[in-house]
Amino acid sequence: MLIAGNWKMYKGPAETAAFCEALRDQHVEGVDVVVCPPYVSLATAVQLLAGTEIGVAAQNVHWDEAGAYTGEVSAAMLRELGVYGTIVGHSERRQYFGETDETTARRARAALAAGLFVIACVGETEEERERGETDAVLRRQVAALGEADENLVVAYEPVWAIGTGKTATPELAQEAHALIKSLLDVPVLYGGSVKPDNAAELLAQPDVDGALVGGASLDFDSFTAICRAAARS
Ligand code: PGA
Repeated sequence: MLIAGNWKMYKGPAETAAFCEALRDQHVEGVDVVVCPPYVSLATAVQLLAGTEIGVAAQNVHWDEAGAYTGEVSAAMLRELGVYGTIVGHSERRQYFGETDETTARRARAALAAGLFVIACVGETEEERERGETDAVLRRQVAALGEADENLVVAYEPVWAIGTGKTATPELAQEAHALIKSLLDVPVLYGGSVKPDNAAELLAQPDVDGALVGGASLDFDSFTAICRAAARS
């Protein structure tokens, strides 16, 4: 069971420090916990969570080691900082910043090659689901990621469920997770409006191996409540 908190563009170093100081005293048996702060807060999180089992991951990474890529950060730089993993292909990157299956795959492969743990996001939009294209979209997005790797996990995040309060039903999540696992033999996290009150039933599904939590990961009590729900499932 893995619970990852995707902080998106929230929490600068000061707020990150306060959160991590509280989090480092929490140990939830049987659950791997990861936080994904914005780049500028990574060093603070790494420092404060050193010596704990809580992982610190970035929200994106570039595929080259260095180069003329304004605004980008490489896997080597993340490693140097002590960051252990990264998210790639988040739907907000795909939607607002032109990220594609191809750039997602390049980022994922470079991160894996550099020894980072990778959470690669896939998921259909509302229109794709309504047109009955969910299967085809997931097949395409998963195929683009390439081969399974012991440091790779996929996060199934239906775009219509992200930040909307609309969660996939446990049955619907299970169906998508089973499809993804039939294509790629890796753990699959669910993401999209995971909250303390719906986490247990989602995490109880046989092919749901954890959660990628956005909004609810920003609040210490709700994030730790989700971690405890994961421990019980
Ligand atoms: P949400 O975000 O939990 O706020 O829906 C999930 C995500 O974008 O990873």
